[in-house]
Amino acid sequence: MIAHKHQPIGVFDSGIGGLTVANAVSKLLPNEQIVYFGDTAHLPYGDKSKELIRSYATTITDFLLHEKKCKAIVIACNTASAAAYEVLRDTYKGLVPVINVIDPMIEAVIADETIKKVGVIATKTTIASGVYPEKFSRRKPELNYTELATPLLASMIEEGYYNNNISHAVLESYLLNEALQGIDALVLACTHYPLIKNEISSFYKNNVKVFDSAEVVARKLKWILEKENLASDAKSAEDIFYVSDFTESFAHTTRIFWGKEIRLELNNIWKKD
Ligand code: DGL
Repeated sequence: MIAHKHQPIGVFDSGIGGLTVANAVSKLLPNEQIVYFGDTAHLPYGDKSKELIRSYATTITDFLLHEKKCKAIVIACNTASAAAYEVLRDTYKGLVPVINVIDPMIEAVIADETIKKVGVIATKTTIASGVYPEKFSRRKPELNYTELATPLLASMIEEGYYNNNISHAVLESYLLNEALQGIDALVLACTHYPLIKNEISSFYKNNVKVFDSAEVVARKLKWILEKENLASDAKSAEDIFYVSDFTESFAHTTRIFWGKEIRLELNNIWKKD
């Protein structure tokens, strides 16, 4: 398989949260066609085992590369990045670039010399993987690190609870947790969380830097495509959005994450076996 610049970019997530990343990619790289896969049949990944997430991520990546002929893969999910990135990178080494949402975030935080103590909030599986403390301590051992699993946030956002009294109360109870005190930066290590970024910044009265993965990942992808001579100069086809299970509620939630109506196509790649 030789990747060519007019092939699409494959982006996947456990569901529709990764649309925040896909949206940032589409804004920064308007000439690229995106093929999105939301694994709504297996949502949420955030409380599943690494082994299971790895097997889902491998099947999705095979579909995006072999059936949809993608030239690059973006794992638009922290939980899947934590569980499956190394396996996918090693499997497709030399064939297509595989980009995760964790490394670009680590790079953005460590490049900021003003940050002395960073906090990370994420799903239970991402926190249990230990990937953030491992990468931060390897890249910048002098950085103080703290983290907190915030399992209510992804489902709260999916149900449309953000920028309201309920989300304020849930966020406040997490952000006041002892684990997150004294930080000068907070990493939103879940692709659902860009939707509550403003609320979090207001909670901190803009005194804590809040990082989300959407734009840093889009910038990293742009850099890789240019370096590999894979950047498209004209959009070859419309974006496609697949989900492995379809309900009206997913269709509704999609509007939250993409900002406007998009058509979801049902494609349960597991049923074809
Ligand atoms: N969007 C996923 C992430 O970034 C979280 C949602 C889930 O638990 O599946 O980790």
